[in-house]
Amino acid sequence: MKPLRVLTVFGTRPEAIKMAPVVLALQAHPQTEVEIAVTGQHRHILDQVLELFRITPDVDLDIMQPRQTLYTITSNTLNGMEKVLQESRAEVTLVQGDTTTAFAAGLASFYAKIPVGHVEAGLRTEDIYEPFPEEMNRRLLTTIAHYHFAPTEGSLQNCLDSGVPRERIYVTGNTVTDALLHIASDLPPGLPEGLVDMPAGARYVLVETHRRENLGEPMRQVCRAIKELVERHPDLHVVFSVHPNPAVRDVVFPELQDRARIHLLEPVDYTTLIRLIRECTLILTDSGGIQEEAPSLGKPVLVLRRQTERPEGVYAGVAELMGTDFEKIVARASQLWTDQAAYRAMSQVASPYGDGEAARRTVEALLHEIRGVGSRPGEFLRETVGA
Ligand code: UD1
Repeated sequence: MKPLRVLTVFGTRPEAIKMAPVVLALQAHPQTEVEIAVTGQHRHILDQVLELFRITPDVDLDIMQPRQTLYTITSNTLNGMEKVLQESRAEVTLVQGDTTTAFAAGLASFYAKIPVGHVEAGLRTEDIYEPFPEEMNRRLLTTIAHYHFAPTEGSLQNCLDSGVPRERIYVTGNTVTDALLHIASDLPPGLPEGLVDMPAGARYVLVETHRRENLGEPMRQVCRAIKELVERHPDLHVVFSVHPNPAVRDVVFPELQDRARIHLLEPVDYTTLIRLIRECTLILTDSGGIQEEAPSLGKPVLVLRRQTERPEGVYAGVAELMGTDFEKIVARASQLWTDQAAYRAMSQVASPYGDGEAARRTVEALLHEIRGVGSRPGEFLRETVGA
C-alpha cells in the first residue's frame, strides 16, 4: 500500500505546540508520510517550538509583518498556499484550532479540493466576537472540514450541533496533553538558572495575556490588579511572560516595568513555560493552551475572559472565569493566595482535556477513513461535560 500523504499547515506558537505531536506521529508511522508547511504568522516564537520538537518545515511562507492585520494574514496565507497545494501530493490537509492561519489554509485546501481534517474541532463560545476572530475561524473550519478531531465530549456535541455527521467526528483528547507529557517527562526541577531574580522558595503568580479583545483598557485593568495584588501581599511575586505583540507591550511595560516583585519576561520558550507553570502558585491568563496545560500540573487558573470555549476546567473546578474586572481579580486571587482550603479545592491534578494519546488516535482515524486500514480508534471519553 502506498503511504497516506498528509499535509500539515500551521503558523503560530500554539498551533505548532498542538500540531507537533501529530507531525511526529505521522513521521513515525510506516503507513503515513507528512509534508510540513508553515505560514510563519508568528516568526520567532514559532521557530522556538519547531526547534524544540526537531521539526523542519518543507515550506515556509514567512508571512509575518510588524503590526500585521487580519486582512494581511488571511490574504498572504491564501495566496501562499495556492502554489503549495498545486505542488503537494497530499490526500488530506490538517489544520489546527482557530487561528487565522488555520482558517485561511483550510479555505485554500478546499479551493484545491483536498479534504481538510480539523484538529481541535468543535470548541465554541456563544459569541462570534469573543474570542475575536477565533470563534468565527473555528465555526468556518467546521463547515470547511471533512474530518473533525474533537478533543472532548463537549466539543463532539458542538460539532453535532453544527450539523456534522457523528461518523466524521473522532473524540481524540487534546494534542496539547501529548505535547506536555512529551516535554515534561525529562525536565529538571525548579526554574532555569537566572530566569527570574527571586529569593529561593518565593511564591509567584504567573501571568500571560494577549487576546485581541483584551488589548487596550481591559489589559490595563489586569495590570492594575497585578499592582494591587503585589501591594496587598508582601510575599507575592508576579512573573509575566509578555507576548511579542507590540499592542500588548505598549500596555504592559509602561504599567508594570521597574516595580518590585514584578518580573517581566520576554516570551519564554515552551519548556520554560511548562517549568513556570509547574513551579507557580496561581495563574492569570487569557491563553487557551495554558488553561489546558495547568490542570495536568495541578495549578489553578483565573481566566481573564468573560467566557471560555474550554469549560471542562471550569466544570472540574480548576479554572474560573474572571473577565478583566479589577475588583474581581484582586478579590479572588487574594483569597487563593491566603486561604489554604480555597486553594486546595482548586488545585487537584487532573486533566479533563486529554490523556496523551490524541496524536495516535488522529493518525489511526485518518488511515481508517481514507485507506480503510484497521478499525475506528477508541475515543477519549471522560466525564467532562457539566454534570
Ligand atoms: C495569534 C492568534 C491567536 C493565538 C495567538 C497565540 C490569530 C488571529 N490569532 O494571535 O488565536 O491565540 O496567536 O500567540 O490567528 N509578533 C512578533 N513575533 C512573533 C509573534 C508575533 O513580533 O514571534 C507580533 C507581530 O508584530 C504581530 C503581532 O505580534 O503583528 C500579533 O500577532 P498575530 O499573529 O497577529 O496575533 P496574536 O495576538 O499573536
